[in-house]
Amino acid sequence: MIQIAPSILAANFAALGEEVRAVEQGGASLLHVDVMDGQFVPNLSIGVPVVASLRKATALPLDVHLMVEGPERFIAAFAEAGADMISVHQEATPHLDRAVALIRECGASPGVVLNPATPVATLSEILDRVDFVLVMSVNPGFGGQKFIPATLGKIQQLRELRARYHSAYRIEVDGGVGPENVAELVRAGADILVAGTSIFHAGDPAEAVRRMKQAAEAALAQKV
Ligand code: DX5
Ligand code: ZN
Repeated sequence: MIQIAPSILAANFAALGEEVRAVEQGGASLLHVDVMDGQFVPNLSIGVPVVASLRKATALPLDVHLMVEGPERFIAAFAEAGADMISVHQEATPHLDRAVALIRECGASPGVVLNPATPVATLSEILDRVDFVLVMSVNPGFGGQKFIPATLGKIQQLRELRARYHSAYRIEVDGGVGPENVAELVRAGADILVAGTSIFHAGDPAEAVRRMKQAAEAALAQKV
């Protein structure tokens, strides 16, 4: 099954509860929460209190994407606040193994993230210990950017490695995802589609999730 993960970065924060309810009704599988520190990426966004509030407002799993330098410092706090999945960037820490182990110790599901210019090969020593790999298909820091097509090859590589080594990690893609590229992303091997602008800036976010899910499932049916 393909999972749709609306990114609340593009939501109306003054009405976040309603926005979340809309995507729940549309059939979202996860809520993607972008945490930015103004250092690893040139922007600031959401912190621990927002995750704690979301935890009370929805039963959807919270997928916390840490775009933070030295993410180890904040893992326990986000897990405590109710994050179900926590991902750290390969580029953001020299202690990736420690960060991944810490996420699991804190009771969350660990993921690792690759910027567009970071090769899949840099994950060879950690892939057997993560539950998911997040492939950035834009340079992180902002919503509403254009999808970088070269990242499709990385999704394919991750799918091939998974089959070759009988691994179980899921492949997530984030940035510039919308109706125009859902089918090719699913065919390349994406299991989780993160989308902000194409869902929350659509007139009807619930319907946008529904359509994206239908397009993804149709592409999956063609693939097998
Ligand atoms: C970008 C974030 C994304 C962003 C995606 O740094 O990691 O999750 O919200 O937004 P869209 O779907 O608008 O590209
Ligand atoms: Zn993200």
